[in-house]
Amino acid sequence: MTTGSARIGSSLKVAIIGAGVIGLGIAWRLAAKGAKVEVFDRGAAGSGASYAAAGMLAACCEAEPGEDALVALGRESQARWPAFAAELRSLTGVDVELRDEGTLVVALTADDQARIHHHLAHQKKLGLPLEWISAAETRRREPHLAGKLAGAVWSPQDHQVDNRKLATALRLAAEAAGAVVHEHKPVAEIAIAGGRTHGLVLADGTKVSADVVVLAAGAWSRGIAGVATEQRPPVRPIKGQMLALKMDPAAPLISHVIWAPGVYLVPRRDGRLIIGATVEEKAFDTTLTAGGLLTLLEAAWRTVPAIEELAIDEMWVGHRPGSRDDAPILGPGPAQGLIYATGHHRNGILLAPVTADAIAKLVLEGATEPAIRPFGIDRFAPPRAAE
Ligand code: FAD
Ligand code: GLY
Repeated sequence: MTTGSARIGSSLKVAIIGAGVIGLGIAWRLAAKGAKVEVFDRGAAGSGASYAAAGMLAACCEAEPGEDALVALGRESQARWPAFAAELRSLTGVDVELRDEGTLVVALTADDQARIHHHLAHQKKLGLPLEWISAAETRRREPHLAGKLAGAVWSPQDHQVDNRKLATALRLAAEAAGAVVHEHKPVAEIAIAGGRTHGLVLADGTKVSADVVVLAAGAWSRGIAGVATEQRPPVRPIKGQMLALKMDPAAPLISHVIWAPGVYLVPRRDGRLIIGATVEEKAFDTTLTAGGLLTLLEAAWRTVPAIEELAIDEMWVGHRPGSRDDAPILGPGPAQGLIYATGHHRNGILLAPVTADAIAKLVLEGATEPAIRPFGIDRFAPPRAAE
């Protein structure tokens, strides 16, 4: 496997494809340890899914059956978030607004309650800190919730950050550590010869030499040439439509992150209320549809009726990098010196700290942190025929 430890004294050269929170986080950690890092993005840094996200750090309440290793990874990253945010603030002056009010998963009807309880039973088995609270207690915490309410799951450790500020802070931190971020420089190909990577070829033909290449191109990761199609990360775009309303920052309608049937609502400090998100298999379609927005607005209005008075601030579409099993792909690729850090799907903001730390360690020391061990691309290899 790739290890850069022998080269770090003579400045290991690392080229990173993609300047989202994943690529930038890795760039920061590597450059801070002395690697010579260049990041290439086909557009503006931080303008992919990292711009589109809601910023929830929902390791507990989004835990689904069959995702135990992913839950463990999410919890590990969640634990790293306070120090990560504090470090970014002291290095860059950017407050990524890590808010700690927690999350409520609201049941409006008895049916919702039954479904949520079923889910909660599994989450409790994993030891997650979640508890059911009554309708009266839910309303005490969020007085603007709908008149008809069955109760909620209270998740005291699922917080949020402003993902757009996060991308800005990561870029500043990476650059302050010496990384160079090249915008509007699409990568066409990963240069591989003799079983190892030698760098990149940009779309304009420029060759960039590097000892290590990190593929962190989000939903676009599968489209970059150089690696045989069957060895590329199985990542596809999962379209999400989202919108933001404007609350009075001095009197916001809600203060927690709220999940409700068909929608989530995320209040920001500046008064923006993020309402998301659709989950659509529509390739790279960027259309905002009446149906998508209607569904979100209706579900949000059923949950917090007073939103009907709010002005619309923004509407947008993003593409989650979804892998075949919805978990990220973290670790060595099919050539020496090639590392995959992609497929973060619904959780890339949550997983940014652990990904940055673990991939930097892998590149510099050749060591695989236990938390990322289950997430290698080899898990998708076809089973070998019995001999
Ligand atoms: P991106 O941010 O997409 O960055 C990839 C970069 O690669 C892009 O900037 C792109 O321009 C660049 N690129 C592509 N092709 C090339 C090329 N050929 N050459 C050079 N550069 C290239 N996660 C959470 O944890 N919490 C949430 O609440 C949350 N909400 C979400 C809501 C929505 C609607 C969406 C869409 C996503 C959400 N996510 C959330 C998921 C999260 O946004 C992603 O998992 C995360 O941003 C992935 O980061 P990334 O850096 O891998 O990808
Ligand atoms: N994690 C929220 C989303 O992907 O919509």
